[in-house]
Amino acid sequence: MTRAQKLLELHQQFHTLCECKLKETAIQPVFGDGNPDARIVFIGEAPGKKEDETGKPFIGAAGKFLAEMLASIGMKREDIYITNIVKYRPPDNRDPERHEKIECAPWLYAELNFIKPDLVIFLGRHSMTHFLPELIISDAHGKLVHRKIPYLPTEYFLPLYHPAAALYNGGMRATLLEDFAKIPTILNIISTPHAQAK
Ligand code: URA
Repeated sequence: MTRAQKLLELHQQFHTLCECKLKETAIQPVFGDGNPDARIVFIGEAPGKKEDETGKPFIGAAGKFLAEMLASIGMKREDIYITNIVKYRPPDNRDPERHEKIECAPWLYAELNFIKPDLVIFLGRHSMTHFLPELIISDAHGKLVHRKIPYLPTEYFLPLYHPAAALYNGGMRATLLEDFAKIPTILNIISTPHAQAK
């Protein structure tokens, strides 16, 4: 079995086990997507309408902007892995509630422990505050955090603004692009022997 097949199996098992009530209103789960050997895992908030319809994360407007930002640092979506803290679309795209994040969290922990990325990038405050509750996104964005978090294989975290929040806000868009430009240097600085750890 390939790593991609094993990861798919992991998703299917967690979808069966997950007790998040959003399952009842969503069309389908939205599994994480991308390279199971990626050095970077991006964690967003929750699927939107397009993601719910297709079962793929970040394929709407925010996903297009994310692809542009990846291209700006010479990366493609196939180089990274992207997922959400909540795997089912909240009705009317409302913010996910704390208990929904907690119910979906074991799934996210399992994904992270499977991929063992060198760097976890939080897209927006929802995923960031689940792991780093004391941080405020307007202060923390673009600043590398080195921290041991129980049950996580990764020690490096980079909070960024959510691309959807930056879509129609020129200032935030420019900040997000500037923060994104730091990613290649950060990857060079953190020297986790990624391949050997697997
Ligand atoms: N916003 C998110 O946080 N996740 C998605 O999958 C799409 C939009």
